[in-house]
Amino acid sequence: MPMPTLNEIRSTFLSFFERNDHRVVESSPLVPRNDPTLMFTNSGMVQFKNCFTGVEHRDYVRATTSQKCVRAGGKHNDLDNVGYTARHHTFFEMLGNFSFGDYFKEQAIPYAWDLLTKDFGIDKSKLLVTVYHTDDEAANIWKKYAGLSDDRIIRIKTDDNFWSMGSTGPCGPCTEIFYDHGDSIWGGPPGSADEDGDRFIEIWNLVFMQNERFEDGSMRALDMQSIDTGMGLERIGALLQGKHDNYDTDLMRSLIEASAHATSQDPDGPGRVHHRVIADHLRSTSFLMADGVMPSNEGRGYVLRRIMRRAMRHAHMLGAKDPVMYRLVPALVAQMGQAFPELGRAQAMIEETLKLEETRFKQTLERGLRLLDDELTGMEEGAALPGATAFKLYDTYGFPLDLTQDALREKGREVDTDGFDAAMAEQKAKARAAWAGTGEAADQAVWFDIAEEKGTTDFLGYDTERAEGQIVALVTEGARVGNAAKGASIQIVLNQTPFYAESGGQVGDSGTLKTESGRVRVTDTKKVAGLFVHMAVVEEGEIKAGQAAQLEVSHTRRSAIRANHSATHLLHEALRGALGEHVAQRGSLNAEDRLRFDFSHAKALSAAELERVEREVNDYIRQNAPVETRIMAPDDARALGAQALFGEKYGDEVRVVSMGQAEGSGKGADGRTYSIELCGGTHVRRTGDIGVFVALAESASSAGVRRIEALTGAAAFDYLSGQAARLGQVASDLKARPEDVAERVKVLMEERRALANEVAQLRRELAMSGGAGQGGGAEAREVGGVKLIAQVLTGVQGKDLPPLIDEHKVRLGSGAVLLIADTGGKVAVAAGVTEDLTDRISAVEMVRAAVAELGGKGGGGRADMAQGGGTSMDGAEAAIAAATGVIEGVMTS
Ligand code: SER
Repeated sequence: MPMPTLNEIRSTFLSFFERNDHRVVESSPLVPRNDPTLMFTNSGMVQFKNCFTGVEHRDYVRATTSQKCVRAGGKHNDLDNVGYTARHHTFFEMLGNFSFGDYFKEQAIPYAWDLLTKDFGIDKSKLLVTVYHTDDEAANIWKKYAGLSDDRIIRIKTDDNFWSMGSTGPCGPCTEIFYDHGDSIWGGPPGSADEDGDRFIEIWNLVFMQNERFEDGSMRALDMQSIDTGMGLERIGALLQGKHDNYDTDLMRSLIEASAHATSQDPDGPGRVHHRVIADHLRSTSFLMADGVMPSNEGRGYVLRRIMRRAMRHAHMLGAKDPVMYRLVPALVAQMGQAFPELGRAQAMIEETLKLEETRFKQTLERGLRLLDDELTGMEEGAALPGATAFKLYDTYGFPLDLTQDALREKGREVDTDGFDAAMAEQKAKARAAWAGTGEAADQAVWFDIAEEKGTTDFLGYDTERAEGQIVALVTEGARVGNAAKGASIQIVLNQTPFYAESGGQVGDSGTLKTESGRVRVTDTKKVAGLFVHMAVVEEGEIKAGQAAQLEVSHTRRSAIRANHSATHLLHEALRGALGEHVAQRGSLNAEDRLRFDFSHAKALSAAELERVEREVNDYIRQNAPVETRIMAPDDARALGAQALFGEKYGDEVRVVSMGQAEGSGKGADGRTYSIELCGGTHVRRTGDIGVFVALAESASSAGVRRIEALTGAAAFDYLSGQAARLGQVASDLKARPEDVAERVKVLMEERRALANEVAQLRRELAMSGGAGQGGGAEAREVGGVKLIAQVLTGVQGKDLPPLIDEHKVRLGSGAVLLIADTGGKVAVAAGVTEDLTDRISAVEMVRAAVAELGGKGGGGRADMAQGGGTSMDGAEAAIAAATGVIEGVMTS
């Protein structure tokens, strides 16, 4: 039997379960859509999380997937071991079958056994299993169905055989299937002292989802009994291909060879580990970008950047002088592009981003590595690298901490991470101290001092546009003042405010502020050091620090901003639907009068794509679904089952905004929500409040980033009614109905083109005939034995002269032609000489002679046809005489 490829194994798995009435469901994106608190999708059950607890219902109860997974951040993090071991990956595929309250263990075990021993043809005598120690039921099924003897059904007491998603959520006992590679390899069976050896390898985990765990540790039995299984494609692939190392499977091997080829290095030579790291990191970075993650300095984007930089160091170790990673993308697309079409769609963007990152990082990589080497030279054997050095590498050379750790691993050293953290803290303290300096920095220091002394501002504006706050500070020109009187420009900080401060693309609020002694107009609100700073002008009386103030946000303006912001979320989702999962926000503006949205996408949108997006946004506006926001503290988020948080950017709260009921299947706990985003902005209550959405323009913003500008609500209506009015005006001018205008204009344009052609033709004919207004002269005369036509024309353009010359030449058979045309303010001159005379008479010389009399200079062309220009028709007679003179000169000499 030929060895199956990984692609074939994936297909065999999915079709086995499809044959057994499972719906083949697409892998969900690596950035979980129904769980904004999870860093990356890390197992097959993530997209079905809520199906197990019964919160969500789908139109199928059996599913099978090959799920893309990344384990490179948060709790499940395999990054450190990648390349050095046989079975660690940052990216892998998890094959799984799922039952939502349909079949349970009595069916799940036979399915697994049949697939492994029949379809995959694995030798039964090599398989053994573990069960949870109290799970007699599972043990009996194994015994009866698979005929396993008691010594090959191992009972395990620990959590290894009780799987749970997190500290709370769906969970249950599991049974794991192991493969015995035989006694030539060291290792003991699961549960034994030597279980960490490589002889017994776990290949499949079947979880019997039957409980839900709560925060206090208590558990309830779920109403439904479900199945969640997970089998690493790379592992089963290695087994079926007779390999012991996942990196020896066909797919991984082809990437390793691509790396070897690109760096001209032996795939199995001393650089073996480097190729393995590169092959793995190529997969995780490319798939993350295909799902919209872009390298950055925080959250998911930083994890991506860390993986990239790590791979780049390994490419550097292979002696690569130029960027390598981007050159390997075609090999990856060739292997995996069919199963994951998003990879092919994003290929250009992935290559471009990798190349850019690698080119930039190369500039500091070498210097950083040199510094590291120098530092190590003086150090005692095995000592940890001082935290300060690791911090310098991070701060100055862009080395993520784990890159330094990875580089040291090869040398058997570690980093003093406490020292690294201390150096980081010290830098922050210094930055703060620097603010207290002079000049511009003083402007900043004042805000820092206020925040330190009074605390940051509480924002109340999600729920209200009016509120009372206490003025904690008044600032003018970087200094705190006690009061501000009528006419003064002032910056006001309050302990709390309903005014939104500019951030996340949404502009700051404006409105009014009143105290018992004065009234102020707030023109803008900005965020500095956690403070909401109200930029204001005192309009009446005076205001004083410490006073209570009534604040009121401009309702009309805020409503327009809100509508634009919510429309941006709908637009984002519609773009993902129309263009693919790689679409990710790269910037936005939500102002009062318009919105602007920048997103990653390689090429311009077609008119049809733009129309589809616009239509879809308007469909969801008319759906008038409620907009829901939830704010979760990190602890609450963890209680919901979050395994990792990417909190920094979002402070210590995660705010989730969802809107719309998806027409097909959607996201969220109910599997129906259309748009779910992490967002700190303010939004409409129902999508209908947006009114209407009009996309104005689509353009390029930067390489790989497109921009859409659009209007909503009253601005969109004004725009549309303005367009309609202009159309009405045009229709009335054309004496046509508005719906006929386009056709009418087309006809008029065609008529115009035909008329223009006709006019040109008539002009030429008129000129040839020497008719009215053309000054005569179309008749040839003899000059020195040569026939010459010299003619002065009006109402003819310069470009009309060459064809006229040609016609005259044909008519003459042999001779010369000179045409002088008044083109309205300027004079055009052309001369022509028939072929038989060009060795004696030059059209260029004729033109030059004529032009000199017409207030012009020069003129050029060939001996048979030349052109030039003058400024005044006064010299026309003299010009003809001069050109005639040229002919006489050569013919009589
Ligand atoms: N959720 C289980 C795992 O991740 C089975 O898919 O192992």
